[in-house]
Amino acid sequence: MNERIRIEELRSRIVGADEAASWIEDGMTLGLSGFTRAGDAKAVPMSLVERAKTESFKVNIFTGASLGFDLDKMMAEAGIIHKRLPFQADPVMRKEINDGQLFFVDQHLSHTAESIRSGVLGPIDYAIVEAVAITEDGLIIPATSVGNSSIFVEKAENVIVELNTAQPAELEGLHDIYSPNDQGRRGPIMLTSVDERIGDIGIRVDPAKVKGIVLTNAQDSPSTIVPPDAETAQMANHLITFFREEVKAGRLTNELAPLQSGIGSIANAVMHGLIDSEFENLEVYSEVLQDAVFDLFDHGKIRFASGCSITLSEEKMTDIYSNLAKYRDKLVLRPQEISNHPELIRRLGLLSINTALEVDIYGNVNSTHVSGTKMMNGIGGSGDFARNCRTAIFVTKSTAKNGAISSIVPFASHVDHTEHDVDIIVTEQGFADLRGLAPRERALVIIENCAHPAYIDQLRSYYEEALTRGGQTPHILEKALSWHTRLAETGTMREEQPVSLS
Ligand code: COA
Repeated sequence: MNERIRIEELRSRIVGADEAASWIEDGMTLGLSGFTRAGDAKAVPMSLVERAKTESFKVNIFTGASLGFDLDKMMAEAGIIHKRLPFQADPVMRKEINDGQLFFVDQHLSHTAESIRSGVLGPIDYAIVEAVAITEDGLIIPATSVGNSSIFVEKAENVIVELNTAQPAELEGLHDIYSPNDQGRRGPIMLTSVDERIGDIGIRVDPAKVKGIVLTNAQDSPSTIVPPDAETAQMANHLITFFREEVKAGRLTNELAPLQSGIGSIANAVMHGLIDSEFENLEVYSEVLQDAVFDLFDHGKIRFASGCSITLSEEKMTDIYSNLAKYRDKLVLRPQEISNHPELIRRLGLLSINTALEVDIYGNVNSTHVSGTKMMNGIGGSGDFARNCRTAIFVTKSTAKNGAISSIVPFASHVDHTEHDVDIIVTEQGFADLRGLAPRERALVIIENCAHPAYIDQLRSYYEEALTRGGQTPHILEKALSWHTRLAETGTMREEQPVSLS
C-alpha cells in the first residue's frame, strides 16, 4: 500500500465503500470516473445502490461516458438518479430515460468539462475516481480511462479515490493530463502530433480535498462488441477502397492520417479490416481504444495510439494487461476534452469513422434516436469529431432488424450530424463520397451506392416525386417520415411485406 499511496497522511484515510457512500446526501452531484466501461469508480456507486434499499435519495451522476459493472443499470433500477450525463449505453437505463424516469443530458463529450469549468452544471460535490496510485507529489494516477476525472477532481469539493489493485500498476506513466485555462483566458493547446505529451502523468489534487480512499480489487467489465461479420468486412473493404482513391488523388499517403474510430461493433470491425491492407505506420487519435487498435499494433500496422480509455474484450484484456510493457511507449491516455478537442482534431486532420443509426438521402445522420424519439446511447464524441475532422466518415449496415428497417431513409427522424458535417457514408453496399456535392447530387450517390437493393426502388420513387416539388433539398413533407410511421404501424419500412433479405 505504501507504493500505491505515497503520501503518508492519506493512508489514514482508507475507509470502506459503505462509509464513503454514507457521506453522499440527497440532491448532490457526483462526478464519477469511467469511460465506456473502463476505469469506472466501482465500489462506492454499488454501495449507494445498496443504501437505496433502505433510504430514498436522488443524485446527479456525471461521468466520462458509459459505465461497466452494470452500474448504470443498477443505479437506474434503484431509482437514485435525478440527472445523468453525458453518455450511457445500458439497455435498462435507456428504457428508464425513454420512460421519463430520469433526466438524461446527451452532450458532446468535449463539452462536459467546459460546462463544469464555467459553472453551468453547478458544483460537483464529490469526485469519485478510480486510480492505480497516488504519488508523493499529489498526483492521482488514473486507471484505464481518464474521461472527465481531471475536471471532476479539479472542481469537486471532496474527492474519494477508489484505489484498484486489480488494475496494473504499470499504467502509471501512460496518461497525459492537461487542463486548459478558463475560456477567454486560454492560449493554444500546444499539441501538434498524436504522440506529444503536454501535461502531467496524473491528476493533481490538493491532498486536503481527499476525504477518503476506498480499496478495491476488480477488473473492468469487458466490452460487449461482437466480432466482425461478412457485412462489416464488406464495409471495411469499401472504406479501404475510399482510402486508396485518396492516396491515388495525392490527398493521403499509405500512412493515411490520424484515425479516430467510434464505439461499437461496427467501428471496431471496420478498423479491424485495415489489418490486411497496404496501409501502415498508422496513427490513432481517438476516444476509445478498442480491440482492433491492439490487433493493428500486433500486426505492426500502428505506430502510436492516443485515446481517452482502453475498452477491451475479456480475452484481449488478459493479453494486453499482462503484456502492457509491449505497448507502453506507443500509447497515451488523455482527458476527453483533449482527445475530443476541436482545435486538436482540426490541427491533426483526423479521418473520423463513426457509426450512424440512420442516414437520409441528403446525408443528414442520426446517431442517437431510434425512430426519432427513443434514445439509444447518446451522441458521444461523434459530433466533436465529425464537425472538426479532415474527413467525416459514417458507417452503418444498410438495414437493421433483419431488413425491417432501412438505414437509408428519405428524412432522418432526428439529426445529430447535419449534411454539412458528413463527408462519406459507408454501408456494406458501397460508399458515397458527398464532398463537394449539392443535395440533388448527394441523393443520387447515397441511394445508388449505399441503400439495400430491397429499398432502392422505394427511395428512388420518393426522390423522383420530391423533385416535382422542387427546392434546394427536395422533399414531400407529408411523406417524409412515412417510413418511420409505417415501421411503427406494420413492423417494417417496406411498402410490401418483405421477402427474406439476404
Ligand atoms: N433503427 C433502429 N435500430 C437500429 C437502427 C435503426 N436505424 N440501426 C441499428 N439499430 C440497432 C441494431 O439493430 C442494434 O440493435 P440490438 O442491440 O438490439 O441488436 C443496435 O442498434 C446497435 O447497432 P449495431 O448495428 O450492432 O451497431 P453498433 O454496436 O456499432 O452501435 C450505434 C451503433 C449507432 C448505436 C453506436 O455506434 C452509437 O451509440 N453511436 C453514437 C455515439 C458515437 O458515435 N460515439 C463514438 C464517438 S467516438
